[in-house]
Amino acid sequence: MVKKIKGFSKFSKEEKIEWLAKTFFDEKVIVKDVLKSYWNSDVKLQKLHDDFTENTISNFYLPYGIAPNFLINGKDYTIPMVIEESSVVAAASLVAKFWTTRGGFTATVIGTRKVGQVHFMFRGPFKDLEAYFTKVRHRLLKATEQITKNMRNRGGGIVSIDLVDKTRDLADYYQLHVAFETKDSMGANFINSCLEVISEVFKREDIQIVMSILSNYVPECLVRAEVSCKVEELIEGTLETDANEYAKKFKNAVTIANVEPYRAVTHNKGIMNGIDAVVLATGNDFRAIESCAHAYASREGRYKSLTHCEVKEGVFRFWIEVPLALGTVGGLTSLHPMAKLSLELLQNPSSEELMKIIAVAGLAQNFAALRALTTTGIQKGHMKMHLMNILNQLGAGAKEKEVLIKHFKNTPVIYSAVQELYEKIK
Ligand code: MEV
Repeated sequence: MVKKIKGFSKFSKEEKIEWLAKTFFDEKVIVKDVLKSYWNSDVKLQKLHDDFTENTISNFYLPYGIAPNFLINGKDYTIPMVIEESSVVAAASLVAKFWTTRGGFTATVIGTRKVGQVHFMFRGPFKDLEAYFTKVRHRLLKATEQITKNMRNRGGGIVSIDLVDKTRDLADYYQLHVAFETKDSMGANFINSCLEVISEVFKREDIQIVMSILSNYVPECLVRAEVSCKVEELIEGTLETDANEYAKKFKNAVTIANVEPYRAVTHNKGIMNGIDAVVLATGNDFRAIESCAHAYASREGRYKSLTHCEVKEGVFRFWIEVPLALGTVGGLTSLHPMAKLSLELLQNPSSEELMKIIAVAGLAQNFAALRALTTTGIQKGHMKMHLMNILNQLGAGAKEKEVLIKHFKNTPVIYSAVQELYEKIK
């Protein structure tokens, strides 16, 4: 069977599904039914989603969960989270409640600067290039005026343009390194449009423009979120451990992530569980956020923890510093009805406010993971939440679920044990 096709994008949705079903699947009818069962019955809404990308044939659902009781800088938030991992929203809710009774989270935006670069090759003497750059610099800015007009009215725009010599890394390689403020928009399209105009004006016979593109590495678009309390306040009802011992162990867990990349990756993955979930719920670009966070975690030449901990004079402090390039206007934020709803739920935050909320979501998730890891172990809570997935996988009905959930309330959730008991009672 030939599995290649020409002109696929021109096919109607029905034709695309038909071709897929007959080319790749034995159970053609089932495949078609599954794909169509995820279509939205509201034709206009479905069309909106179809138009987001090319070749859309269906929708892919992820759970939309809600974590209430976050207190951030004295303001209450209920945070929307899009995530499939069973324990993440529960962990966020528990940690939110825990810190609300201890003064809540504080968060500060350290900077909001974004970056774009024109990458080019030049063979001549650097001083000639420098002289040329100095001569045209004003024209480069002037050429972008039309594009930057609205942004400048909102207080943003181009902050600086610098010529950077990169020939130590690669022969003949130079950059125009451009810094931007993009206010409440993530700014990708704005930045790229400015860069293309700049490169058009800058190009010359002896300058080969290789590409003009924003950088998703934004170490100066940085936010810090923090919690602190007296060490003795760290202990809650069910935690049977000495507060000082626990605080020390918790701090050690963070330090281990700082010195051991194998651990740091998992540690930061847990942080991204919280960050990505809110980034997705608000229609932001989680791939940009992810790649930037990991580059930032490696900025000292080794991959390290994004969070930090200090236990000093009886006070426990735990904080995160993470770059987050986010938008609360433009892109999917107003186009996707659920992203729009999420932003409304967050009381229509500015991009700076959203940076704070999302950093808090990451910190909360890391706190939950380290608390579990350094006390009961992660599987207890994790598998309790995962039980429902196992039951659904086994095809358990409501009655069977009720019995099994009751049984595993005080018994370790192990797949084979759940399966065995299910077989017995079904
Ligand atoms: C699981 O998604 C995330 C954790 O592994 C994070 C961590 O180990 O810190 C629990």
